Amino acid sequence: MRHGILVAVLLAVSAGPLSSAEMPGGILNNSHTCGICHRDIHRMWSDSAHARSMEGAIFLTALHDAAEKEGEKVARICLGCHAPLAAQIGDTKLENRLSWEGVGCDVCHSVASVDTSGANPKMVFDLGGTKRGPIRDAESNAHGVEYSEIHAGSLICIGCHEYAAGDGTPILSTYSEWQKSAAAARGESCQDCHMGRTEANVVDPSVKRTAGTPVNLHEVPGGHSLNMLNRAIHVSMKPERRGEELRVEVRINNKGAGHAVPTGMPGRRLILTVSVKTTQNQSFEEKRIYTKSFVDAEGNPIEHDGECFAEGARLLSDTRLMSDEQRVESFRFHVPTSAGVSIKTRVQYEHSPTGRPEDSTRLTVLSEDRSLKPAAGPER
Ligand code: HEC
Ligand code: HEC
Ligand code: HEC
Ligand code: HEC
Ligand code: HEC
Repeated sequence: MRHGILVAVLLAVSAGPLSSAEMPGGILNNSHTCGICHRDIHRMWSDSAHARSMEGAIFLTALHDAAEKEGEKVARICLGCHAPLAAQIGDTKLENRLSWEGVGCDVCHSVASVDTSGANPKMVFDLGGTKRGPIRDAESNAHGVEYSEIHAGSLICIGCHEYAAGDGTPILSTYSEWQKSAAAARGESCQDCHMGRTEANVVDPSVKRTAGTPVNLHEVPGGHSLNMLNRAIHVSMKPERRGEELRVEVRINNKGAGHAVPTGMPGRRLILTVSVKTTQNQSFEEKRIYTKSFVDAEGNPIEHDGECFAEGARLLSDTRLMSDEQRVESFRFHVPTSAGVSIKTRVQYEHSPTGRPEDSTRLTVLSEDRSLKPAAGPER
């Protein structure tokens, strides 16, 4: 039974300092309670991937499989990012709502510092009840407040978006990709692109008036947002006929993401397709796929994101578009000179975290059509 295994795994999680989280009205609270006052922010966060990082069926199944195949040590690693407070509050039986909401308010706003001295970055939590954030002159009698430099920059994201296996295999490298980007050189943080500011109330006006303070978008949109994808990828195509050869040159450019596209787990890929149809009923299609792929200790391809953390997993290839990279792709097709052609270039974003079609999503980012007349022929 799924829960049986989870409980067994969690019993082995080293119990952190026991806090008042189990007590109603304690120092740490579930996000719903924060939402009583921070209503707008709670609404945005509820739509985020962070809010689903524990409860999602895909993750839970993966956690269960990891516990079964790899043992509790690996499953414990998963919770370190998907539900960090479970271990911190010693919720060994996963009974606290706080554990089930994954990356909730008190995960990010209890981070006091980030330790980057070890092989992997580590968030250091202060569970004393002070909420840390970007407002320098915040005042609240509901809880302690403290201005935090970490929250105003990319470091708040490093603990969960950068991870290497024991042998150095990079599994998540979004933060280090960002460090090498032009965006980072311009001083743009993760938040500048992912948590843009908007007009909303930091706290409900019935609690306190904080007029004129913009709020950071807590939905944190990423690869599932067409808007974000459109910002990231630019494409142009140049078709040319030379006798019976049709050449299509496509320039694909990662202009707008401050890291590789896609970044994160290998279940994400970008697919460029060029399809050609002729007036003589021939059709051709060719693809380029931008992704990274992993193999397990035996060399078999890994199709499930959760399995990348298994011992012995290795990076096999990486064809992703690095930040600011432009790649030129050449496609060649054999087309009779007497035929007219229509060419379609399409870029799609696919997220397939388990390798199973029913768990996959696919978005068409952009497409461009072009027609060319016959290169030569009896009538024009
Ligand atoms: C009873 C109302 C209330 C509740 C409940 C509440 N807050 Fe607050 N919070 C406030 C007020 C008031 C401020 C100050 C806003 C200001 O001065 O601009 C604030 C400020 C903050 C700040 C900004 C700190 C800074 O310096 O940038 C953070 C972060 C925060 N709260 C997080 C939380 C979290 C997390 C929870 C739930 C565990 C929570 N709050 C619950 C009222 C509340
Ligand atoms: C405590 C861990 C943690 C922290 C801190 C964290 N994230 Fe995440 N993030 C996750 C997890 C886990 C997921 C995957 C959730 C899922 O889909 O199961 C995720 C998903 C995302 C996504 C993917 C959304 C999508 O639909 O493609 C984006 C974008 C993102 N995070 C950005 C950020 C940014 C920006 C920061 C810093 C402000 C940040 N994260 C801080 C754990 C974290
Ligand atoms: C993934 C981490 C993360 C989660 C989860 C998260 N926050 Fe934040 N929050 C941030 C960051 C980072 C900032 C500051 C952004 C900046 O200034 O660049 C912030 C800012 C704030 C602020 C100050 C006002 C503002 O928008 O700048 C408040 C208040 C706040 N958060 C409350 C909450 C509450 C309440 C929740 C849960 C409903 C929550 N946060 C969930 C990371 C997070
Ligand atoms: C210059 C803007 C910019 C910066 C800076 C930036 N991102 Fe992104 N990010 C994007 C765009 C645009 C996308 C959508 C394209 C895509 O899906 O890769 C994206 C997608 C993502 C995704 C979804 C995975 C994917 O590729 O689909 C995650 C996770 C993410 N970003 C995390 C981060 C983190 C963490 C940081 C800081 C270390 C960061 N981003 C910095 C613009 C940015
Ligand atoms: C270092 C932090 C970290 C650790 C450790 C971690 N994950 Fe994740 N996981 C993420 C982030 C961040 C994302 C989403 C963004 C992305 O693709 O980069 C994610 C996404 C996933 C997804 C895709 C979820 C979906 O709904 O699309 C699965 C499945 C997953 N993780 C399973 C696991 C399993 C199983 C483990 C343990 C064996 C694990 N993760 C350990 C950070 C982590």
